[in-house]
Amino acid sequence: MGKNKLFNPFSSEFHQNPYATYDKLREEDPIHWSFLHAWVITRYEDVDKILKDNRFQVDDLPMRLEGKNIYLQGGDLSTLATTIDKWLFFQKVPDHTRLRGLVSKVFSPHAVEIMEEKIKKTVNELLDKVIDTGKIDLIKDLASPLPAITVTQILGLPLEDYDNLIRWSYDLFFVFDQPMSLEGYQRQNEIAIETRNYLLDFMAKIENSPQYEGLISQLMKAKNEHNQLTEDEILGFCIMLLIVGQETTKSFIGNGMLALLQQPEKFEELKNKPHIIKEAVEELLRYDTPVQVIARIAQEDVVIKGKNIKKGDKVILCLGAANRDSEKFFQPDILNFERVNYNLPFGGGIHFCLGVFLARLQGQIAIKILLERLPHLQLATEKLDWRESITLRGLKSLPLTFLSP
Ligand code: HEM
Repeated sequence: MGKNKLFNPFSSEFHQNPYATYDKLREEDPIHWSFLHAWVITRYEDVDKILKDNRFQVDDLPMRLEGKNIYLQGGDLSTLATTIDKWLFFQKVPDHTRLRGLVSKVFSPHAVEIMEEKIKKTVNELLDKVIDTGKIDLIKDLASPLPAITVTQILGLPLEDYDNLIRWSYDLFFVFDQPMSLEGYQRQNEIAIETRNYLLDFMAKIENSPQYEGLISQLMKAKNEHNQLTEDEILGFCIMLLIVGQETTKSFIGNGMLALLQQPEKFEELKNKPHIIKEAVEELLRYDTPVQVIARIAQEDVVIKGKNIKKGDKVILCLGAANRDSEKFFQPDILNFERVNYNLPFGGGIHFCLGVFLARLQGQIAIKILLERLPHLQLATEKLDWRESITLRGLKSLPLTFLSP
């Protein structure tokens, strides 16, 4: 295999288990020039430093999408480009500071704490639906609807619409996966149109009805009364939250429970010591990190460990690899609820995850209640169905059985 093919995130082996590739890269070529024409960075120290280094800025995907229009016959990616252009992931200072400031309160530790009872209720109600059957598809029955319901509640959207929101968010998250075919982008453009139309209808409905609560109505007030943001920004922002709020947490709960089921002594340990749930959740996030990679673009020539990264080069920061770096973590391939963990699963620098408290809380509640109510859970398949994504490591389904009470 050519050295620049060491990292092939399209292969099914990689989706099954990226960690063998990461081990090799960290060892043999930690600043690796890939056939994807991007630098692949796998050591904790380098990933962490680049995240906090202003010489590396967010990806310019929205602009590149507009540029792709000329290759399309009769197609158009403008709606997708306009939508993602407003996402915090692609914003630079000062727009980033302004937009993040408008919503940061909604995701503060205090605001999230208030949601605790609602999240517990949702988890219990979802489990009530399957408890008498003795089986559960952890993804379809819990990990997917839980964050979908939570984000629906935060935005103030009608709860009965959450099935559509699940469908749209699954497909739209792939926009982070690059490179992608033009057909793929066209499909996402169609979904962006569908989602925007849904939100526009909802916004028209609540425009003159002050009784509606939720983030959408707050953002509309900020637009109408204080001119703080535009309609495009509201739409882009809400679609961003719908997507990242769901897909990341879904993967996290799925990956975390899978790790516990594959290491039954750890499942037992947590079942017997539910008070360590916070530490356990941090370790599960490290062990099988949901957001495996994030991208940055060098703003000037930079030399890292003798490698010349040129202005305009893309770097792919492998959070999943950094979180298994033995220079940082003792015996990284082993789950250990007592180790000191860091926040790298949630990124770093100014783009550090906005939903970190919400994500943690949902994970802690879901896993704790699962172990309490279904203490004899077992894997019901040997074949794991991973989604074909470069960015997100998550299962499409996870069939389990248990002894019903
Ligand atoms: C376990 C679940 C989650 C993980 C692992 C995760 C991970 C991440 C990571 C790695 C980033 C940094 C991206 C970058 O630097 O390019 C990020 C940013 C972000 N996350 Fe999360 N996330 C999770 C849950 C959530 C939730 C529940 C929400 C909201 C409801 C959310 C909203 C965001 C937003 C808006 C950003 C962009 C922040 C910015 O650019 O300023 N995330 N997340």
